[in-house]
Formats: sequence, C-alpha cells, structure tokens
Amino acid sequence: MELTVGQLAERSGVAVSALHFFERQGLLTSTRTAGNQRRYRRDALRRVAFIRIAQRVGIPLKEVAAILALLPDNRTPTREDWARVSACWQDELDRRMRHLQQLRDDFTACVGCGCMSLAACPLVNPGDKLGNEGAGPRRLLTS
Ligand code: FES
Repeated sequence: MELTVGQLAERSGVAVSALHFFERQGLLTSTRTAGNQRRYRRDALRRVAFIRIAQRVGIPLKEVAAILALLPDNRTPTREDWARVSACWQDELDRRMRHLQQLRDDFTACVGCGCMSLAACPLVNPGDKLGNEGAGPRRLLTS
C-alpha cells in the first residue's frame, strides 16, 4: 500500500513542506495519481528516517542524496541495497569523526596558545592551505 504525503508526514514526523523539499533535492521520489497527487512507497519512511539521522549528524543533503542514489528507484530496496548504503554511511561517518577529532586536538592546543597566527595556526589556516596557494599574505591578496 502506498502513502499519501499527509500519511508520510504523520508517520515520519516530518512536515509536508520538508517532504516536498526532500523530493526537490532528489532525496525522495513519488509517483502521481490520475488526480496528480503524490504517492510514496512504504520504503519512503526508511529514507526519511535516514535523512533525519544524517541531518542530525550534520551531513549535507547533497551527500545524503549521493548515498541514497545507491538505492533503486523503481522497486523496494532489498536488505543488500541497504547494506550497500550502510557501508557508505559508515565510511562517511568515520571520515567526519576523524575530522572532528583533529579539530578537537587543534582547538585544545590553540586554546592554550592563543596566537591565532595566520601562518601557523592549524585552526586559522588548516593544512597550510594558504601557503599552498603561493607566497605572501594570501588573505590580503585575495580580499
Ligand atoms: S592559536 Fe596559536 S597555533 Fe592556533
């Protein structure tokens, strides 16, 4: 049985306007009735739950869309389909955790330092990105 947008909103706890937004972003797909009303397969509930969790951990919707693109559009995803998504999801979370741990370590060091040096501070200039762009005062040259 398919769901109307109102039923999907009620079951998922997500506003109808947000569901429409997700659909415009390619995160969710629906079919249309003869009367041009949206209908969602039941697995849309799982997709919406996935999107909400991703939002909670700060993954941009563009990246969520790329991961969800691994699921088939024309049929209900199987356990294997979701396992593939799960593997990608885990890689993405691991990457973010490593990044946050690095930020935490840099921040702890910088709280004790306080120099906020444009050249040396890893928080102001991560990975000396500015230095890789060339010599001289990069921020001043580009502003
Ligand atoms: S504040 Fe000195 S290195 Fe970041």
